[in-house]
Amino acid sequence: MPRREIFAGNWKMYKTLHEALDLVKGVLAGTSDIGGREVVVFPPSPWAKPVADLCRGTKISVGAQNMYFEREGAFTGEVSPLMVRDAGCRFILVGHSERRHVFGETDDNVNKKVAAAFQNDIEPMICVGELLEERERGLTGAVLKRQVEKALDGVSGDQMKKVVIAYEPVWAIGTGKVATPEMADEAHRHIRRIVKDRYGAGTAAALPVLYGGSVKPDNIAGLYAMENIDGVLVGGASLKADSFLDIIRVK
Ligand code: 13P
Repeated sequence: MPRREIFAGNWKMYKTLHEALDLVKGVLAGTSDIGGREVVVFPPSPWAKPVADLCRGTKISVGAQNMYFEREGAFTGEVSPLMVRDAGCRFILVGHSERRHVFGETDDNVNKKVAAAFQNDIEPMICVGELLEERERGLTGAVLKRQVEKALDGVSGDQMKKVVIAYEPVWAIGTGKVATPEMADEAHRHIRRIVKDRYGAGTAAALPVLYGGSVKPDNIAGLYAMENIDGVLVGGASLKADSFLDIIRVK
């Protein structure tokens, strides 16, 4: 069974409203003939609804970059799963390395957000990845195992059909240092093995695993050619329609 192919753009904390709408219009203009490839954009929260309004009925889905796990309450500054859903978002990014390492998000937090996503009919794109120091100490496999297992705690086999995992080695994010296709493929294979041990071969084989970290038009082809790389989660190069489209349209 062929796996889903997903090209996602994480806009992080960039773009005014006007710029966000221009960007998504530019991406929409180039995605009418991309076949079965799925495109997802993650705008900053205040722009989720206007961007989702533009994307309704098109090939582009919209996701939020973060949310809190409670449905509502006195949590000043937070955005709830209900709000994310109401804004027209299909996806939620969970456990991005900037959330983990700049804002101190824990594996437990990530797990609660995954559960909250399912309770609110939102599909989680779960980010995992090791620090440079962890890779150098040979801990990559153990870190991925801990992050994946903890994130998926309590997730049913049926819910796994809606899970996307993004492998984003922290040392490759925003640094221009891309993992080699072989390194990324090996990490993706490891993630699939972890999922297989818990959910079985069928679920593991169907799981889309995306690579993220300095993906650019000039390195996408090598990454995308790998057996276990089912798409990408792009930061910087998704901020311009042309470069994001060059990535989406990789041969
Ligand atoms: P860059 O593509 O800018 O390295 O960012 C990757 C990322 O963090 C996507 O979520």
